[in-house]
This record gives sequence, C-alpha cells and structure tokens, in this order.
Amino acid sequence: MKILSVVGARPQFVKLAPVAAECARRGVQHVIVHTGQHYDPMLSDVFFRDLGIPEPDVHLGVGSGGHGVQTGAILGAMDAVLEEHAPDWVLVYGDTNSTLAGALSAVKLHLPVAHLEAGLRSFNRRMPEEHNRVLTDHAADLLLAPTEVARGHLAEEGLADRTVVVGDVMIDVLHQVRDQLADTDAVLTELGQELGGFSVATIHRAENTDDPARLRAVVEALQQVDHPVVLLAHPRLRARAEQQGLDLVGGALTTRAPLPYPALVAAVSAARGVITDSGGLQKEAFALRTPCTTVRTETEWVETVQLGWNVLVKPGPALRDAASRPAPEPTDAAPYGDGHAAAAVLDALTERQANL
Ligand code: UD1
Repeated sequence: MKILSVVGARPQFVKLAPVAAECARRGVQHVIVHTGQHYDPMLSDVFFRDLGIPEPDVHLGVGSGGHGVQTGAILGAMDAVLEEHAPDWVLVYGDTNSTLAGALSAVKLHLPVAHLEAGLRSFNRRMPEEHNRVLTDHAADLLLAPTEVARGHLAEEGLADRTVVVGDVMIDVLHQVRDQLADTDAVLTELGQELGGFSVATIHRAENTDDPARLRAVVEALQQVDHPVVLLAHPRLRARAEQQGLDLVGGALTTRAPLPYPALVAAVSAARGVITDSGGLQKEAFALRTPCTTVRTETEWVETVQLGWNVLVKPGPALRDAASRPAPEPTDAAPYGDGHAAAAVLDALTERQANL
C-alpha cells in the first residue's frame, strides 16, 4: 500500500507525525507532500525536526495568498504529483486550504481519498475552515473521525457508511512528547514566568484578527487579565495588529514568537490557563488538564466544554473573567482516545483498500 499525505499548515504537521511513524513501523510506503502554505521555519521546519517527521518528498511552495489563490495554486500543482506517485490513498488532514485542495485534486484523478479528522463541525459558515471540512468530507471515500460526536455529524449528512472512528492522532503525539517532555524550567526561563502563575495565549483565526474592533477588544481583555499572559504571536496576528496600529504589549500581556511543539506542551503543562482560538490547543489544554478559555462563539471540540475544562467567551470582560477562573473538578474522561489513533488509521486504510 502506498499512502500520499498532503500537509501544509502547522497543525497538520503535528497530525502527520504519528501517521508517518506508523507507516514506517509497518513498512507502508508513504509520500509526504508539503504544499508550502506555512513557510516560516517556526510554523513548519521545527515541527518536522522535533517530531521526527521525514523530509517532505515534494514541496509545492505555494506560500500565502487569498483563499482562492492559495487553494487554486495547490490544486494546479497537484495533478503532476499525483500522476507521478499514483498512490493507493491520498490522505488529507484537518480543515485548511491545503486539505480541501488535496482532496479535490485526488477526486479529479479518481484516486481514493481519506480525510483524517473528519466530521468536525462548528456550524459557523463564516469560518473558512468549516467550508473546507464539509466539502472535504463529502468528497472523501473514507472518513476517519476522531470522536463519536464527529461520527454523529457525518451520519446526519448521510456519510455513515464511509465513517470509521479512529480516535485523535493529536493525543498520540501528545503522549509521546509528554513522555520526553522538554525541560520545563528552561521554557519557564525563556518565557520569564513562574510555574502555575501565567496563561499561554494564541490568537490567529480570521474571525478574531481581521475585524479591527474585535481584535482590539481581544487584546484589551488579554491586557486586563489578573495574571501574566504570554501571547505566542502567529504571523497573521502580528501582520493584522501592525496594519491596524494596535500595540499588542501592555498590562498583563507580553508577546513571544510561536513555540516549537515540545516547548509548547511544556509551557501549557506549566501554565495556570490557556487562552486561544486554536482548535488543537483546546484539546491539548484538556489533555494536560490546564483550564482553557476559547475566544470563539462555538467549538468543534464540544467534549472539552461539556467536561468543564473549556469555556467559550466573547472578547471583553467575559474573556478577562474566564481567564482568571480556578481549575474545575478533576476528570479522567478520555473522549479523544488512548493515544493509538495512528494505528487505527493504518488499520482502516488497509482494510478499506482491500474493498475499494
Ligand atoms: C491556517 C488555516 C487554519 C489553521 C492555521 C494554523 C486555512 C484557511 N487556515 O490559518 O485553519 O488553524 O493555519 O496556523 O487554511 N503567514 C506567514 N508565514 C507563514 C504562513 C503564513 O507570515 O509561514 C502569514 C501569511 O502571509 C498570511 C497569514 O499568515 O498573512 C495567514 O496565513 P494562512 O496560511 O493563509 O492562514 P492561517 O491564518 O495560518
């Protein structure tokens, strides 16, 4: 069996890591295509290095652009790659423009597509990620769902017979990294913080960064939190803040460049809270039992909210107050699986390939 993975953005490199490792363990041929959507070393190269992912076999180098330009550039470049490698499966991950373009290019060439992290829904049609995941699910031949909630969404859309629940590969990575945790003291020193005394923040979603009034409200609320907040500033956030003449630093708020994955895990473990609009970080915070405050009107990871470890807030006083709340009652719930999702992914691909 030959699998071709299409990845391009930071969270996809994290999800790719355990899949690549499992392919290597089983001797399955695995071709890695990096679209180049994320090109900054801190959003790309460090993940390959730290998570032991082989170098990409193909790099499309598409870079930034509007949604149509970026998606189209990937689509335009993929035909030749797919024809050259002729994989048994094209595997796409998550909900970015690279996911949709990878799926669409495979469908056009009649190659079987599997979607990892299928079935997530925010039901917010203003999010580019929601279009990407809905369209990808409906194009794909095999839907690898992380949770029972995701399976339910797919069933409601008539996609039950293409669905397999495999668990969440991000938990695989987290377990692996947690077992070889980066030096927490070094990370605390780098961040200039004390154990349990600060929150880690990330804000990068278009719905928060691209409306000047909303971005200002987010930043002002972060500055008013009652303990230090370290904002790991994504390039989109820095670019928008600069365009809008908004100073990110002030009050409780300081900024740092995005962290490599092991350092991020160490920082979240050592923090008293996480404040974010990222999908992955909500789960990572839950898995590490650090309370999370999510600056969005909805989440795809509803289990984190139901279990009391995540709250959704609007920018403003609600954000400031939620970020200062104490940790909830402990829980041993494991809605995202036991850290063996990549093996389940390979099992599903092998089994379905036999029946294609
Ligand atoms: C993308 C995904 C989002 C995911 C996020 C993780 C889409 C629609 N969005 O959002 O779902 O959560 O990645 O980070 O696919 N930029 C750089 N350097 C880079 C990459 C981007 O400076 O290496 C700048 C671009 O110039 C642009 C901005 O960041 O101004 C946005 O990049 P883009 O890849 O379009 O979307 P993200 O916001 O990163």
